[in-house]
Amino acid sequence: MTRDAELMTRALEASAAARIDAPPNPWVGALVIDQHGVVQGLGGTRPPGGPHAEVVALGEAGDAARGGTLVVTLEPCDHQGRTPPCTGAIIAAGIHRVVVGVRDPDAQVAGRGIERLRQAGVEVTEGVLAGEVGAALAPYLWQRRTGRPWVVLKVAATLDGVVAAADGSSQWITGEAARADAHRLRAESQAIIVGAGTVRADDPALTARLPGRTLEPLRVVLGTAPATARVRPCWERSGPLEEVLDELGGHGVLQVLVEGGPATASAFVAAGLVNRVVWYVAPALAGARNTLGALRNLSTASIDHLRRGRVVSVDRLGEDLRIEMEV
Ligand SMILES: NC(=O)c1ccc[n+]([C@@H]2O[C@H](COP(=O)([O-])OP(=O)(O)OC[C@H]3O[C@@H](n4cnc5c(N)ncnc54)[C@H](OP(=O)(O)O)[C@@H]3O)[C@@H](O)[C@H]2O)c1
Repeated sequence: MTRDAELMTRALEASAAARIDAPPNPWVGALVIDQHGVVQGLGGTRPPGGPHAEVVALGEAGDAARGGTLVVTLEPCDHQGRTPPCTGAIIAAGIHRVVVGVRDPDAQVAGRGIERLRQAGVEVTEGVLAGEVGAALAPYLWQRRTGRPWVVLKVAATLDGVVAAADGSSQWITGEAARADAHRLRAESQAIIVGAGTVRADDPALTARLPGRTLEPLRVVLGTAPATARVRPCWERSGPLEEVLDELGGHGVLQVLVEGGPATASAFVAAGLVNRVVWYVAPALAGARNTLGALRNLSTASIDHLRRGRVVSVDRLGEDLRIEMEV
């Protein structure tokens, strides 16, 4: 691994710590090394209104940044938002060289940040660990490119794919560790979508319940939620799912978590709108008779038409498995 890649790995670690609180801004990580190659500043994007990662790292480095190198996962911004442009701070700090993971597809940045730095005589190296950085920032990059949030479908099922028993009961199929992981998924999402059927059956509150988390995700019900539902206040939407996603994207939602039930999950998969599936598998069997299959309303005409994907990860959480699939 090159020195640039090693440093980018550390910047990525710093970005992971900003994953939950940075949105609607991207969770960026940055570090500053001085002229002798010693790390002098390291940080991630602070919550909205707070400094971006570059400014955090530069602030920590102080005068040691002069003549040094800034390593940052995402191209620095060059426009005035809630905070001043990062390019200005980098140039003012006397940084000699900037190492960037990926370009920012946001229409207000899109290469302008890198251009500005080069014009000011700063050397810029692009594309360091671009694959890893692109994967870590996938929801943000997707939302900026398509205008729609990155869609994660979450399912908790028995080994044979059942999500509710014949009487409609479904709590709880998986154990505590899997449910804690699902709460983290919620916290990483700026919106959660469920069908009205799930609201009627389970009356979920759909809160992230994560310590330290300040902003709860926006709750979206497809159809109508009963007046006394715990999910309230919520958005109630019907109509094409594409339009719902466009609206959420327009509100700065970077990632949406689809929590079911089967009718909703089937509709998202059938429309080709799912980016990732997170499937918690409990070592339990339910059978198909009168039970609810996770994608009950989805049909596949022939094996050639299976919606195949790629396994991103497999983890064991207590007694359960967590399988993440790229669709
Ligand atoms: N284990 C798990 O992971 C899990 C997760 C969630 C739910 N569940 C279980 O799943 C069951 C409920 O699932 P379900 O399939 O009956 O209902 P659902 O998917 O939760 O909700 C379906 C309802 O959503 C509304 N809707 C509006 N637009 C829609 C669209 N584009 N696509 C689909 N639905 C739309 C419709 O409500 P209206 O008819 O009111 O218009 C529809 O009847 C419950 O037993 C629950 O316990 C299990």
